[in-house]
Amino acid sequence: MLSISVEEFLFWKKTQLSKGGDHQSLALLLDSVGGISTSALNSFNINPKGNLYLKKNLEFLESVWDDHLINSCPIQYLCGITFWRDLKLKVTNKVLIPRPETELIIDIVFNIFRKKSEKLFFAELGTGSGAISIALALAYPLSEGVATDIDKDALDIANKNFMNSSNQSNLKFCCGNWWNPFESFKGKIDLAISNPPYIPKYTYENLPKEVKNFEPKIALLGGEDGLKHIREIIQKAPLFLKEKGWLILENHFDQGEKVKQLLIKKQFKSVEIVNDLSGVGRFTIGRYK
Ligand SMILES: C[S@@+](CC[C@H](N)C(=O)[O-])C[C@H]1O[C@@H](n2cnc3c(N)ncnc32)[C@H](O)[C@@H]1O
Repeated sequence: MLSISVEEFLFWKKTQLSKGGDHQSLALLLDSVGGISTSALNSFNINPKGNLYLKKNLEFLESVWDDHLINSCPIQYLCGITFWRDLKLKVTNKVLIPRPETELIIDIVFNIFRKKSEKLFFAELGTGSGAISIALALAYPLSEGVATDIDKDALDIANKNFMNSSNQSNLKFCCGNWWNPFESFKGKIDLAISNPPYIPKYTYENLPKEVKNFEPKIALLGGEDGLKHIREIIQKAPLFLKEKGWLILENHFDQGEKVKQLLIKKQFKSVEIVNDLSGVGRFTIGRYK
């Protein structure tokens, strides 16, 4: 641990922010690499006296911050950590950084299954860092979940994240293409969730470089019109869902109506587009018969 004065630290922090970037990203760096929590940061701002202890020196922290600013590398990858709902998750460039808007998926589930004592059997298709499944496994401790991904490296990270977040064993991970790993669960799933790759090709080509150059293409690109994977997931969903089982999908901001029609065509009922906090139709949900 390295001791420096709070005054010197606050001056350093101000200098870093004057170069660019945002408070939240710097706070993540200071917390996960420097060992200074956000609540400690707030208290230093109120009372800038005395000394504080850092896990890494200011030169090192500055070199990471510069890497973030100069190369546009997401701070989460440089720190190896992200926060999502109340989870602290390991992330590498093998997994998408779970987005704040996706957090709402968990609230949609809470609205459908109100009792935390529910014994659900849930499945997540394309789990990435494991964020969604881990949050559900923790919130519904009597439930059983299975999460898949086509990328073995992503699954290893999801598995580690689950072990770090819970001492339960109610979530399993298996590798494979969408529904394929669920062959033995046909007609048994109460709830299936997916935030699949849904970015249309043209939009993908023009994504900001902090996304396109760093986040996995396989987690983002949804074919020519963005709906390639969503179509495949909806097509096979009726084989795997229980009667009246739910399917919850995240989609691109303008895909809600198309996804709704795909669900209706497959005879889903209670089909609804759910807005995210910015009023965008981000999720489409339905119940199989
Ligand atoms: C948009 S990311 C979502 C990750 C995570 N669920 C989240 O919300 O942050 C999509 C995930 O689907 C996975 N994926 C892509 N194609 C797949 C396929 N054919 N079968 C299974 N998973 C796939 C990717 O590896 C990636 O982890």
